[in-house]
Amino acid sequence: MRACAQRAFLLCSMVFAEESRSGRAGLRSNDCNNAADFRELARRRLPAPLFHYIDGGADDEITLRRNTSAFDKVRLIPDALADLSSLDLSVKVLGQRLEWPVFCSPTAMSRLFHHHGEAAVCRAAHRHGTMYSLSTLATTSIEEIGALTPGPKCYQLYIHKDRAMSWDFIDRCKEAGFSALCLTVDTLVAGNRERDLRTGMVTPPRFTLASMLSFFAHPHWSLNYLAGKKFELANVAGHIDAGTSKLISVIDYINSQFDRSITWKDAEQAISRWAGPFAIKGVMSVDDARRAADIGASAIMISNHGGRQLDGSTAPFDQLGPIVDAVGDRIEVILDGGVRRGSHVLKALAMGARACMIGRGYLYALAAGGEPAVDRALGKLRAEVERDMILMGCDSAKRLNRSRLHFD
Ligand code: FNR
Ligand code: LAC
Repeated sequence: MRACAQRAFLLCSMVFAEESRSGRAGLRSNDCNNAADFRELARRRLPAPLFHYIDGGADDEITLRRNTSAFDKVRLIPDALADLSSLDLSVKVLGQRLEWPVFCSPTAMSRLFHHHGEAAVCRAAHRHGTMYSLSTLATTSIEEIGALTPGPKCYQLYIHKDRAMSWDFIDRCKEAGFSALCLTVDTLVAGNRERDLRTGMVTPPRFTLASMLSFFAHPHWSLNYLAGKKFELANVAGHIDAGTSKLISVIDYINSQFDRSITWKDAEQAISRWAGPFAIKGVMSVDDARRAADIGASAIMISNHGGRQLDGSTAPFDQLGPIVDAVGDRIEVILDGGVRRGSHVLKALAMGARACMIGRGYLYALAAGGEPAVDRALGKLRAEVERDMILMGCDSAKRLNRSRLHFD
């Protein structure tokens, strides 16, 4: 009894210490105005293995950095006196009207970062008139997300060696009312994420001696995690033990479970089984963009997985122009990776993208403060896009074009 009380006292003082640490530095999620602010708060709130899993990239993280810095090589050219009394930011993406040209990329295991998890991001996306994408490796099921909002939802498919399970995802998404599907093609093997190796990132989270300090230093997160719904990879649980009831690193999960033999034939098969709006995520070359159009995909998501896979790969923004020139009249071209600011979105649109996706842009916020913080992050980004459009003297997302860009 006494030991119990002592433990409770210890935990309470640690929670208090953690809160006052954030307080002393003066940063709460209501003070965050941009992705960098949310990132800093996420860094303070998350145990190290989880923060670095979100934040990190492959090898030397050159591509991770390049994804954002690539936007700096072009500059926006504003027009003046153009009657900006009304603004139409809406775009049609994968058969759905989005109120503004940004939507949420699929990301794995959101409940690890905050107990509000995938549902928080899905609801916030809906409130902001945009689309949510659910990862195959989510911690909330297809069925739960399907029933959560009437808003547009895209399911991200990873083809596993267990083909029956993989094709079954497609049927489950139909049943659950998803509006679109995307097939990720850049992750046959896991990128070399050395931060994960250093921090010992495994799922379910493991309270080992090595990670214990970090978990103890973040009692708020640890208490919520221990009190919350049991961790599971909700879509694959029941078929695959690894990652749910059997401890494994994300890297080992990918390397042991994903099917490396997939080809364009499999993509074609997925498209015909789904028979609805379908995107290929992870296209980087002009040739692959053409192939995607040839097999009847509705969209490509130009992406290098947020710099988490092939380090040294070029940035999505670098490839946008050539890909739009080659297939922009046949297929929707969506840019995914590195987007942190409204001005990045404007540059991508002016270059010819239909819309942009964000991953870390909402994940940092989720980790920093759950659903209200994701709401704030999306609201801030949307306000930036709106403000920048007005400052550009452009009243419609569809009217931005390359004449509004200055190239070095
Ligand atoms: C991802 N990404 C990803 N992509 C995917 O197709 N399936 C997945 O399960 C995941 N999981 C995942 C987890 C985490 C923590 C991150 C940061 C990213 C990649 C994601 O969809 C997207 O391509 C990138 O996040 C885009 O880059 P930015 O916006 O994070 O710079
Ligand atoms: C990742 C995988 C799961 O990027 O897509 O971590």
